[in-house]
Amino acid sequence: MNLSNFKRTKMCGEFTAADVGKRAVVTGFVAKYRNLGSILFMDLRDRTGILQLNFDSGRDVALFESASTVRNEYVLKVTGVIRRRGEKNVNPNMATGEIELEADAIDILSEAETPPFMISDMQNVGENLRLKYRYLDLRRPSLQKILMTRAAIVGATYDYMTKHGFLNIETPFLGKSTPEGARDYLVPSRVHPGEFYALPQSPQLYKQLLMISGFDRYFQVVKCFRDEDLRANRQPEFTQIDIEMSYAEKPEDVMKEAEGLIREIFKRTVGLKLPRTFRKLKWSEAMSRFGSDKPDTRFGLELKDVTKVVKGSAFAVFEQATKRGCSVRGINAKGLASMTRKEIDAFQEVVREYGAKGMAYIQWKEEGITCSFRKFFDDSRFEALLSAIGAEKGDIMFFVADKDKTVFAALGALRLAVAKKFGLIDESQFDILWVTQFPLYEYDEEEKRLNAMHHPFTAPVPEDLKYLDKNPLKVRAMAYDLVINGQEAGGGSIRIHTPALQKKMFEKISLTEQDINERFGFFVEAFRYGVPPHGGLAFGLDRLVMLLTGTDNIKDVIAFPKNQSAVGLMENCPSEVEKKQLDELGLKL
Ligand code: AMO
Ligand code: AMP
Repeated sequence: MNLSNFKRTKMCGEFTAADVGKRAVVTGFVAKYRNLGSILFMDLRDRTGILQLNFDSGRDVALFESASTVRNEYVLKVTGVIRRRGEKNVNPNMATGEIELEADAIDILSEAETPPFMISDMQNVGENLRLKYRYLDLRRPSLQKILMTRAAIVGATYDYMTKHGFLNIETPFLGKSTPEGARDYLVPSRVHPGEFYALPQSPQLYKQLLMISGFDRYFQVVKCFRDEDLRANRQPEFTQIDIEMSYAEKPEDVMKEAEGLIREIFKRTVGLKLPRTFRKLKWSEAMSRFGSDKPDTRFGLELKDVTKVVKGSAFAVFEQATKRGCSVRGINAKGLASMTRKEIDAFQEVVREYGAKGMAYIQWKEEGITCSFRKFFDDSRFEALLSAIGAEKGDIMFFVADKDKTVFAALGALRLAVAKKFGLIDESQFDILWVTQFPLYEYDEEEKRLNAMHHPFTAPVPEDLKYLDKNPLKVRAMAYDLVINGQEAGGGSIRIHTPALQKKMFEKISLTEQDINERFGFFVEAFRYGVPPHGGLAFGLDRLVMLLTGTDNIKDVIAFPKNQSAVGLMENCPSEVEKKQLDELGLKL
């Protein structure tokens, strides 16, 4: 093996018919071999694709014999001439399907044992085995493609942000607990036994301090750590494209930059031209129409409030719900009246899972109407309900009565479940919109106090300041989320930049003077020394990659992800450590 002799000409997938007749040196993994006795075909794979190699015993017996010892996943360097394939060997499904390399030298750079599974997108391999041998799993063309797209998104981000005057500045991983609302990952200090760093849930405090330091515009592609329950789109460590800018006074100032970045990313990765500004939907409208603060608006099935129509009926379930803070709402699944009892029961489970006690429905089939509460409604009220929900023969309507919060959660989930089950979502479209004017606070039932809905540095909508004391739940925030295909792709806000308002905000969420000093003392103090108005946002990079590569599993877009219980199956972490390490840290288990 002598690597210094020659370099590869280009990568496997880059050869085309224009190279026919040229000498070439190629390197890669053996993806497949077929020994036909006197001719041997091999597919050589690298991240760009596959090139077929041809070893002919008629040309060179010794070469044919060394090629015959090669097995899958061997790493080779092969020299030869690019030839057009014979007519019947042309493979139209392959980018390099018209050509092959007629080999005249082979260099086996590394042998390989038979891998625990075939490296192929066609194989159905259990996820645990794939994660244990992630470095082999990552050789699959689909995962290589996804990680290349991820790299392209990051590349576009650096280019765009730099071009628009944003400085890339790193912030600490060993820091102090931040208020993003999840549990922290803690790192014990050896030098200060009994004390801990917290890994950042986001660089929120640091990026605001960088505005106070005068850096004007900041961005960072940065790991964040949150110890929370994992889902299909959540990992304990994930990556944000984090942005902050000074002199942003209204949400649109930040949105404009964010839209530019997203446009650039879409253009570069999927070649799609997005509009200059994205649609906006106020949070209250998103909730009342779609039952969700991250609505998928690629299909209808919108919620209708029928509280007024049903008020006064003899149906106890609805009647109890017409009380203050409660409502009765429904969705009309147009043309789906023929769904089965079993399907309806499954939807019943969905609303229960989201906290509703049940759901009622009207099924208007060819042969007539089935409705559990029909007997409690007189004809004119029933007519009015049908009309309010836009019912026609062939439709099925579902109703949930409860507190608004529960009704929205239940019908929002039901809406998605019906759309998924009956294929109502046009997957070929990207549905991009801003959700704006979130409430500043939400009420924490368990703790019986207000909480910041985004985080406590978010500024209120100026005209709502007057409600801050009397009716804080009515105050809207200058906060915004970017929603793509029903996923929260990013979120941010205009920040509070006056010490008095920041103090008030902390008071409202029941932080005592002492809490504030202990947790954010350094931050609050900084606000005394001149603060440009500022705002920003963070995109979930992993989620953007998911959306742009069409996967619904976040593990597919991260090179070395954790499994559902936050375990790294390959390196086997978390794991126990030596007693000596614990002693040094002053820790006892
Ligand atoms: P937020 O908490 O909304 O805002 O996070 C921003 C974006 O990060 C993504 N995200 C996640 N992705 C994968 N796994 C997770 N566990 C996870 N958690 C969040 C989402 C989300 O929209 N500091 C603020 C931003 C700001 O105000 O500027 C923040 O972190 O896509
Ligand atoms: P129940 O009074 O619990 O027997 O319920 C009577 C009917 O109302 C059943 O069809 C239930 O599925 C439905 N139902 C129960 N709770 C609710 C609710 N919160 N909203 C709408 N329908 C409900």
